[in-house]
Amino acid sequence: MLDLHCHILPGVDDGATSLEESLAMARFFVRDGITHVVATPHCHRGYRLLRADVVPRVARLNEALATAAIPLVVLPGSEIQVPDSAVYRREFEAGLYCHLNDSRAFTLLEFSWKPELYPTDAVELIGWLLARGTTPIVAHPERHSFFTDDPPRLRALVEAGAWIQVTVDSLLGNFGPTARKAGEWMLREYPIAVLASDAHNLQRCSGLSAGYAWVKEKLGEGRAAELRANAERVLAAIAPTPRGT
Ligand SMILES: [Fe+2]
Repeated sequence: MLDLHCHILPGVDDGATSLEESLAMARFFVRDGITHVVATPHCHRGYRLLRADVVPRVARLNEALATAAIPLVVLPGSEIQVPDSAVYRREFEAGLYCHLNDSRAFTLLEFSWKPELYPTDAVELIGWLLARGTTPIVAHPERHSFFTDDPPRLRALVEAGAWIQVTVDSLLGNFGPTARKAGEWMLREYPIAVLASDAHNLQRCSGLSAGYAWVKEKLGEGRAAELRANAERVLAAIAPTPRGT
């Protein structure tokens, strides 16, 4: 089971503050049934984690996990915010960003929390990424007012080929009723969705099994199976199993 959005890397952003906290989160994930986590620290104006920052830190975290005998694989990534699509495109081309597992198959893309910074050419940006072989996954659209107040805006991105990532805490009501309702609506509306924890620490760390259980209860077992299959598609694309294993 893959969690593709998580702030488990210690001491780099507003996620885990220490290695001990990272290891505690990892133990929780293993108990939850998660086998792979993509560490997705922020890449925005506040915390700017680029691939040169993320890749070696993830290697060190995996070493610590092995030493602690915690059976969890952490893959490098980042949650890349796009307040300015021209800058994003330039930095993407320069190879500065860390996409999911440092491959270009999928990237986790976040829009600014400020509605006035929503790029006017967001739909074009989705097409631009797909033309480069990268499928963008839009982080937690259910938490952004410019999507919940304006559903056609998200529909345009999905129709252009974007995937969406809904956060488990939203479904559980931990970000309020608007995010909960929007998350449910988006999961009903859009087939190409994945669940993720967006865990930042042990207090904000619901895991995935609670999310799949929620989907099974509200939307049916078939939909929960589809969401799991979508996550498996991502994992197969970013971390293909070596032949013969
Ligand atoms: Fe996040």
